[in-house]
Amino acid sequence: MADRKVISGAVRTLEEVGAKARVFISMPAIKGITPRVLLNHPASERATTRAPLARVHGIFAIDEIGVSCIDHAPLYGDACFEGIIIRNGIVFLYKEHMDRLWKSAEGLRIEIPYSKQELSWHVVRTIQATGFKKKETGYIRLVVTRGIGDLGLNPNKCVGATVYAIVSTITLFPKEAYRRGIALGLSRKIRRPGSSTLDPRVKSNNYLNNLLGLLEGTNNLQLFECLMLTAEGNIAEGTVDNIFCVVKEKGYRTRPSKVRILTPVGDYCLNGLTRASIMTFAARMGYKVEEVPDLMPIDLLGPGRECFMAGTAAGIMPVVEVCGNPVGDGTPGEVTKKLLGEIEQAMADRRYGLSSAATKSEVYRYIKSSKSPIRI
Ligand SMILES: Cc1ncc(COP(=O)(O)O)c(C=O)c1O
Repeated sequence: MADRKVISGAVRTLEEVGAKARVFISMPAIKGITPRVLLNHPASERATTRAPLARVHGIFAIDEIGVSCIDHAPLYGDACFEGIIIRNGIVFLYKEHMDRLWKSAEGLRIEIPYSKQELSWHVVRTIQATGFKKKETGYIRLVVTRGIGDLGLNPNKCVGATVYAIVSTITLFPKEAYRRGIALGLSRKIRRPGSSTLDPRVKSNNYLNNLLGLLEGTNNLQLFECLMLTAEGNIAEGTVDNIFCVVKEKGYRTRPSKVRILTPVGDYCLNGLTRASIMTFAARMGYKVEEVPDLMPIDLLGPGRECFMAGTAAGIMPVVEVCGNPVGDGTPGEVTKKLLGEIEQAMADRRYGLSSAATKSEVYRYIKSSKSPIRI
């Protein structure tokens, strides 16, 4: 039975989100199927896209609109998404998120009915509709689903993707956890599959494997996060973030090359943008960065080690304990803190993203520019 206190906390958060968040939503116009509010609402517009069917889209409050109950996302998890952070009025690594979204959609063979520029302008319009202040941290959940279609898994029943972008906030872990670091559990039974089951590089809406891993590995949510392993027992990643292990060899304080930054190879984890940022910054700082195929939980432990999780919503989370054993001296490590400082700096730097106050032509120009400040 769910705890009353937990539920009332969740309700309070939802009410705050409801008061502030806005959602851009777009779907084909099908009589008797497409929510009438989307067809008739004054905020609805006919979308001009290259898709064969007429579409409607608009920006709404969350309680004004919903995804159709016969969209194949709620029916089958047939969708992909991005989670994007807005800090200091900058949508961090926005272009890189769009590129990954397009690759995920390609992997699922879902056609996105907008160009990257068109969709990005709608996302920016939605951010501007929320009225978030520059100093507030915002979060965008951008989702592309297979779309509305009759019951049955076959995608040919669907008439075109539903696209939506919720602009809101997100708090994965309490503030205190970032200061103290967290204890990680381990999911032993539920493993992270490779690309022959579900390509981890496709950021799909199917998170059941991760969810079951989280429930098992945190002993029913007694911890915040846990490690997920590959079938062979090597570390894959966390349930919503990538993992890094720091190995500090003698003399590391004066010679950065004595610091090794290890992370699992990309075969069993999401190609995380925070992961790519950390690898870029760490190499620039003179640390040795290595993607390793056989990182084991025991490798994270003991003196001279640091460990942290990395993700857009999770941020950089120091890990101070794994399965009850201390990492390093059991407090957040100095290399972890330095890397966190680099990410924080990048998030305040216009070169790392798109201004949330951008005009349409600025958005179009930004998306067209090809160079990324991180190595992907
Ligand atoms: C399974 C998983 N791994 C890693 C990440 C981190 O990726 P990113 O840094 O791009 O947010 C996420 C983020 O959603 C995730 O869900």
